[in-house]
Amino acid sequence: MPPPSTETAPLGRPLLLLNLKVYPGSLGPAAERVARYLEELGRAAGVSVAIAPATPDLGRVAAAVEIPVLAQHVDPMSPGAHTGFVPAESIAAAGGRGSLVNHSEHPIRPALVAAVVTRLGEAGLAAVVCAPTPPVARRLARYGAPYLAIEPPELIGGDRAVSTARPEVITETVESVRAVAPSTSVLCGAGVHRSADVRRALELGARGILVASAVTRAPSPRAAIEELLAGF
Ligand code: G3P
Repeated sequence: MPPPSTETAPLGRPLLLLNLKVYPGSLGPAAERVARYLEELGRAAGVSVAIAPATPDLGRVAAAVEIPVLAQHVDPMSPGAHTGFVPAESIAAAGGRGSLVNHSEHPIRPALVAAVVTRLGEAGLAAVVCAPTPPVARRLARYGAPYLAIEPPELIGGDRAVSTARPEVITETVESVRAVAPSTSVLCGAGVHRSADVRRALELGARGILVASAVTRAPSPRAAIEELLAGF
């Protein structure tokens, strides 16, 4: 089977995607600072990188860097009389390039995942659909998102990396997703901290990683990003 064409990976591949979540040290100006480190170090390493700041910081980060800036969640409705929701168009208008969908810390009903992936596509944005297990990954991959991130919730935020603690989760997801959506790039996340964790994930067939606390809780976010990039 020929390798998927690159346009099926609008954020690049292999990809380091940094989710800032809403960690206290990653809000406001700190989000911009970390995004600039990520852009500088990703460019120097020749690795595709992207960042998902807290929603209120998305516009300021997108104005500060050229790398893709993603939302951590979008809502399925179209723009209109909706209060406090985040339609895909508002992310595009702020300079965003995509969004996480169904992250285990912000899960949505499976039927809504398809709607959100469609709405993101209509707005010209890349969907990174998240799944907690390989069977769920297989089901959600049918919606044709360019990226599918497998993250065992029990490892999120911990110091055991999915690629060393649960390697079979990555290989099962890569095989499952390839069977239903061969152009979708599988990312993996949860507990990834070291370059060896990244290298192992790529050896297992992942096309990138989704990471948070290795950087957001690091004494030196810059050094933490360098460590991760060394694994690509
Ligand atoms: O979105 C990525 C995140 O859920 C992984 O968290 O802290 O284990 O890298 P962490």
